Amino acid sequence: MSLEKVKWNTVIAESPLMKKILEDVEKIAKSHASVFISGESGTGKEVIAHAIHYQSDRKENPFIKVNCAAIPETLLESEFFGHEKGAFTGAITKRIGRFELAHRGTLLLDEVSEIPLSLQCKLLRAIQEQEFERIGSTNTLKVNIRFISTSNRQMKEAIETKLFREDLYFRLNVVPIHLPPLRERKEDIIPLAEYLLEKVCKENEKPLKKLSDDACRVLLEYPFQGNIRELANIMERSVIMNAEEILYPEHLHLDETLNLCPVSQGKTLKEVERRVILETLRSFGENRTKTATALGISIRTLRNKLLEYSLTHN
Ligand SMILES: Nc1ncnc2c1ncn2[C@@H]1O[C@H](COP(=O)(O)OP(=O)(O)OP(=O)(O)O)[C@@H](O)[C@H]1O
Ligand SMILES: [Mg+2]
Repeated sequence: MSLEKVKWNTVIAESPLMKKILEDVEKIAKSHASVFISGESGTGKEVIAHAIHYQSDRKENPFIKVNCAAIPETLLESEFFGHEKGAFTGAITKRIGRFELAHRGTLLLDEVSEIPLSLQCKLLRAIQEQEFERIGSTNTLKVNIRFISTSNRQMKEAIETKLFREDLYFRLNVVPIHLPPLRERKEDIIPLAEYLLEKVCKENEKPLKKLSDDACRVLLEYPFQGNIRELANIMERSVIMNAEEILYPEHLHLDETLNLCPVSQGKTLKEVERRVILETLRSFGENRTKTATALGISIRTLRNKLLEYSLTHN
């Protein structure tokens, strides 16, 4: 991939799951419906939000983001709606809020589950009616905004525990998109790793590096609890720490590879085998067929081993 083609909004999608999501994104982008993107941290929720905006007919208009978790509760209302000069202590000048800035464009409510309950009712009205007032003003402002929300929390739980209003959730979740964790879309791992490696090499003005076959094998078995962000960190670290042109597993500095090494001192072969089997199973999302194939054993052998582990309880 040449540098010209590596745009800031490149979305790598080789797995069937991600290809389907990109097809959906194309359809969704044509509508004005509110989109709710869920998924574990680092799965690319913000990347998909950008993709929706830049494929929509709003693409020439603003894409505005509010990180609902990062802004203190007391400032969030003014962040959304703005305020007039003197509206409250500290409001020295007039401020334009994110709703106003997002007019005719898209507003991304990032980590929406973190919006305090006290503000949710006001937000619901603003979204539903597409109108609001700056704090300290009685002048109602009309807007035309497409809303995209993201969350890595279980919204069902937040609603049940009354931390999030159900009516607001329904309003935001007209079209849901769920991004699966990286370990459930293994076909994306190597293309993403290569893309990120190239990106980091260019950013650090280093000659392009390549992944060895063994490094690829190790990456394919790694559980990636931090998803693509973790993969990006691994690639960045290996570019900064190593001068070699070809990266081997030891250059990736993965904790798991060290732990999986069968020569770990004080471990019996059985202990190492058990660990390798359980880690591989976990990395394939508990899929026994894929695990057995990756380990080169029959499903029957895998089943027997798992039965043995459940009987030994350790
Ligand atoms: N499909 C993809 N193609 C290329 N890069 C990606 C892709 N998905 C994610 N990334 C990259 O991975 C990193 C994490 O993505 P992003 O910030 O969108 O995740 P997120 O789900 O919003 O995470 P969080 O919940 O922690 O905010 C970013 O650097 C992003 O550019
Ligand atoms: Mg995010």
